[in-house]
Amino acid sequence: MGVTDFFCNTSSLCLHRPKLSPDCCGLRGSRTTFMPPPAASTSSSVPVKEDDCSLTGDSFIRPHLRKLSPYQPILPFEVLSTRLGRKPEDIVKLDANENPYGPPPEVFEALGSMRFPYIYPDPESRRLRAALAEDSGLESDYILAGCGADELIDLIMRCVLEPGDKILDCPPTFTMYEFDAGVNGAVVIKVPRKSDFSLDVKRIIEVVEQEKPKCIFLTSPNNPDGSIINDDTLLEILNLPILVVLDEAYIEFSGLESRLRWVKKFENLIVLRTFSKRAALAGLRVGYGAFPLSIIEYLWRAKQPYNVSVAAELAACAALQNPDYLENVKVALVQERERLFKLLKEVPFLNPYPSYSNFILCEVTSGVDAKKLKFQSLSRPFAVLGKHTLQEFLHFTGRPCQKRCDDSSL
Ligand SMILES: Cc1ncc(COP(=O)(O)O)c(C=O)c1O
Repeated sequence: MGVTDFFCNTSSLCLHRPKLSPDCCGLRGSRTTFMPPPAASTSSSVPVKEDDCSLTGDSFIRPHLRKLSPYQPILPFEVLSTRLGRKPEDIVKLDANENPYGPPPEVFEALGSMRFPYIYPDPESRRLRAALAEDSGLESDYILAGCGADELIDLIMRCVLEPGDKILDCPPTFTMYEFDAGVNGAVVIKVPRKSDFSLDVKRIIEVVEQEKPKCIFLTSPNNPDGSIINDDTLLEILNLPILVVLDEAYIEFSGLESRLRWVKKFENLIVLRTFSKRAALAGLRVGYGAFPLSIIEYLWRAKQPYNVSVAAELAACAALQNPDYLENVKVALVQERERLFKLLKEVPFLNPYPSYSNFILCEVTSGVDAKKLKFQSLSRPFAVLGKHTLQEFLHFTGRPCQKRCDDSSL
């Protein structure tokens, strides 16, 4: 194990096309020729003949990744705009539970006067972690920032899981846990939530005993339904011999206190947060996590050194400078959630679920097609966009009208 150093004279370096037979490394690709390089790419000095060998590029890919289904990301704003024939500013795009109010004005000022974009960012995100410590009351030693909570989910898995290890997932929930487990060669054991979307704790305990998964991913409030995990349930799961990753991406909208500081008490707890929802910085990619000190040191070792960009750190620090704005936006979103909930309840074919988040999940009843409904709402001006995360369900996020971040009431 480890790194082997080869010292060589670069002038004598040459490239050899490996003479691999299809059998020697289990090459079973269906294509038998190399694809030509794209026109813009630099040409290789290594001649490649079409009939040379049946080696295909995908044969280099790790077997478990060859079977991986790609993550289904959102449609970029510009693509949606072209497709719908509407200007981006006429679309309220909310299908990834973004915060439609935008970030505080301080963010735009900070980005506009960025001084050192040509210098690599602070690998320890010191300014941001200090600001987060002040914001959360948890010392910065326990905090690590990332390129969104998404990066931290993957980083945790890379630090914790050997290929073949098991994780416990409780669907329906954020699909990134299952996706990243697949990327990391882990096995996903599913303990579905009950019909009211609460956790099936009895079954979780049984599965932990029988299957010995290494970690469990819990989301509170949960995406897609917005339900929360109460203290008793969380404590019961923390009692098990399993690493608990508690994803609090939407905690600000719940009115409940974050469990960030619990990591000082529980050696098997990690709590994840993000700037994407609370501070409307989804496009800049900033998330953070709170970790026990015995765990965080390994994440520091394994993370990409410059994972939080200069722009991302600047923007996140600037957003934290205006807590009043963040609070006002949160209140506006929660008020709108409550207003929308009442309206949705009046629709005969919709059954909305109470939510502690910035979205509402709605069951579509009486044989109405959820997908069709989504696209009908898309065709109206200033529509609230629904997301059919589950087949018979719609997902709503709303705001009163076409308010933007320059709204003077915020
Ligand atoms: C539960 C949950 N966790 C994490 C994320 C991703 O957060 P980030 O934008 O910080 O990567 C999302 C995004 O929708 C989410 O729903």
